[in-house]
Amino acid sequence: MKKTVLILAFAVTTFLIGCGNNEKTTTTTDEQATTQEQPAPEAEAYDAQRGEGKYTAESLALTDKLDAPMAKKGEDAFGVKCASCHKTSDEKLVGPGLKDVTTRRTPEWIMNFITNPDPMLDKDPEAQAMLELCLVRMPNQNLSDDEARNILEFMRKIDGVK
Ligand code: HEC
Repeated sequence: MKKTVLILAFAVTTFLIGCGNNEKTTTTTDEQATTQEQPAPEAEAYDAQRGEGKYTAESLALTDKLDAPMAKKGEDAFGVKCASCHKTSDEKLVGPGLKDVTTRRTPEWIMNFITNPDPMLDKDPEAQAMLELCLVRMPNQNLSDDEARNILEFMRKIDGVK
């Protein structure tokens, strides 16, 4: 009888300790899982085709026809805010020549880059490669949505969209 009680007591204690340990292990595993998961979503979320910013192919919904009045407004804005650093040929000035940029990059990449250059210069492999060549970080030109979209239309015009 005494022996049975002792064995029971031992079993209960082991069970309790076991539980305690288990709990601790679970917590640690959870914490580790959370810490390990954190960088992953961000790394996965960066889309080098789209860049980082609010524009997507869907939100732009471009057609293959040029909007000539928009392109004209874009040309004017380009003259004021961009021409000091960019030519519309393939020749580099401070930044790369912008000829064929609409075939090098997706429209949403261009829109995101020109409205949100800093985060992209920090993350985008293509933007970083240009930075290495140009040694100047393109400053944020504070373009309005319309200005950015008009400038994209102007770039499409340079690249032969009619
Ligand atoms: C102070 C100079 C400067 C100004 C002003 C400037 N840029 Fe840039 N731009 C650069 C540099 C330099 C790069 C290359 C990336 C880098 O080093 O930041 C670049 C890169 C770009 C690219 C990517 C080119 C490619 O081949 O992928 C686009 C598109 C662009 N700029 C458009 C514009 C537009 C549109 C404006 C005006 C709203 C503008 N930039 C104003 C310096 C400038």
